[in-house]
Amino acid sequence: VTRSLSHAGPSPVVLSMGGSVLFGESTSEEFLKRIADLLREVGEAIPLAVTVGGGKTAREYIRLGRRAGLSEIELDELGIDVTRIHARLLASLVGPPAPSQPPTTLVAAVHELLRGSPVILGGTEPGHTTDGVAAMLAVRLRASRMVNATRVDGLYEQDPASHPDAKRIDRMDWAQFHGVVQRSARREAGQEFLFDSLGADSLARARIPLAIVNGRDLENLREALLGRPYHGTHVE
Ligand code: UTP
Repeated sequence: VTRSLSHAGPSPVVLSMGGSVLFGESTSEEFLKRIADLLREVGEAIPLAVTVGGGKTAREYIRLGRRAGLSEIELDELGIDVTRIHARLLASLVGPPAPSQPPTTLVAAVHELLRGSPVILGGTEPGHTTDGVAAMLAVRLRASRMVNATRVDGLYEQDPASHPDAKRIDRMDWAQFHGVVQRSARREAGQEFLFDSLGADSLARARIPLAIVNGRDLENLREALLGRPYHGTHVE
């Protein structure tokens, strides 16, 4: 079945799933299956592209590779391969029409989305992260929104780990978000970014709103994906 992305039907939505949301300490096969069910369900209603991060496993390989003297590009490539393993696992759980072989370029991802939804992929090229891939894909697809599923339920004024009474910021504009992202980014392989700064700038330029939500709360994640009111930080 060929589906039109630009004419009839809702505009595409892009989701970036943090690797540590899917594959953390407490990951169970039940949770992975529930996420797969959600992606299948939402993917039937709207064209949905999903990037999956490398989480702790990617960082472990990158740490080992760095100690062994690999270059930054080689370390990024290690990270990309881990994100692709995660994408393959999730895509296999979702099943057809999701391609079980994750597309490796943005062009291929767009092409797959023309044939069926959802499409699940990992990283593409050295130098950014799967959040960045999701943002670039959102721009290419003229997505109506991008959702970033992370381990926290939004952005806080201070780090909630060290400031238990820190307040969540419900809405911010792109200038404010840019400032926060710049402060957190050092640009090296395996580093835990708040958000890919290149990705943030492409979304801002294309005026695609970004929702930052807790990826472990699947009910709330569904609301954000469907464009309904949700709990998290809205950047617009
Ligand atoms: P992630 O997207 O998982 O980065 O890619 P992250 O910010 O650590 O995200 P979480 O923790 O999973 O949420 C892992 C690493 O793979 C390389 C980078 O080195 C990145 O840090 N990578 C990933 C790329 O170089 N290009 C890509 O397109 C994706």
